[in-house]
Amino acid sequence: MRSLVILISGRGSNLQALLEANLPVDKITVISNNPQAEGLAIARQYHVDTLVINHRDYPDRESFDTALAEKIDACQPKLVALAGFMRILSDAFVAHYTERLINVHPSLLPAFTGLNTHARALQEGIKIHGCTVHFVTSQLDHGPIVIQAAVPILADDNEETLAARVLQQEHRIYPQAIRWFMQGQLELTGNLVKVHQANTRDIALHSPGLQE
Ligand code: GRF
Repeated sequence: MRSLVILISGRGSNLQALLEANLPVDKITVISNNPQAEGLAIARQYHVDTLVINHRDYPDRESFDTALAEKIDACQPKLVALAGFMRILSDAFVAHYTERLINVHPSLLPAFTGLNTHARALQEGIKIHGCTVHFVTSQLDHGPIVIQAAVPILADDNEETLAARVLQQEHRIYPQAIRWFMQGQLELTGNLVKVHQANTRDIALHSPGLQE
């Protein structure tokens, strides 16, 4: 069974993009560490199973991660997707899901790891920004890159306009990456991901929104 577990903490727009994408999976379970996450309501709208594991109920990161892994493993997932999951995961957790834990990050990695990527991109004066889907390793926001999309930074951009332009592309590349994974098209060798049977222009999208 191709089971997908999606971990969220908040808004859930990437979750919604995944739920709308009609992915080749048999079951989706959404788990949130935040009982107030708006994404939980989105998941319910799509009649997807939801679970809350509140990190505040656990004394430390390890015990939370252990409880989370227990719930995830009960779903026997082929893939675990982080979709705005705002918790740093312990090395043991990451190791347990080697090559089956994936994330979407709002920058063209390896630039701008961490938080506030859009504000930092604007501050640096770079002209091209974007987003990345990558496999998760113990190094925060590093790990083998599956797909990226680049967008221009326009002269009158502010954090919100830039975030919106990038987010639109996150919603496009994340379902694509997960579809490839589920269809067995991704081959991981060390830090490199090869995408089989895909058009090269689908792997690196350049200003895709503006071309259409
Ligand atoms: C996205 O920008 C994603 O790249 C980052 O967290 C944000 C989550 O947004 N990891 P949403 O909850 O998917 O709307």
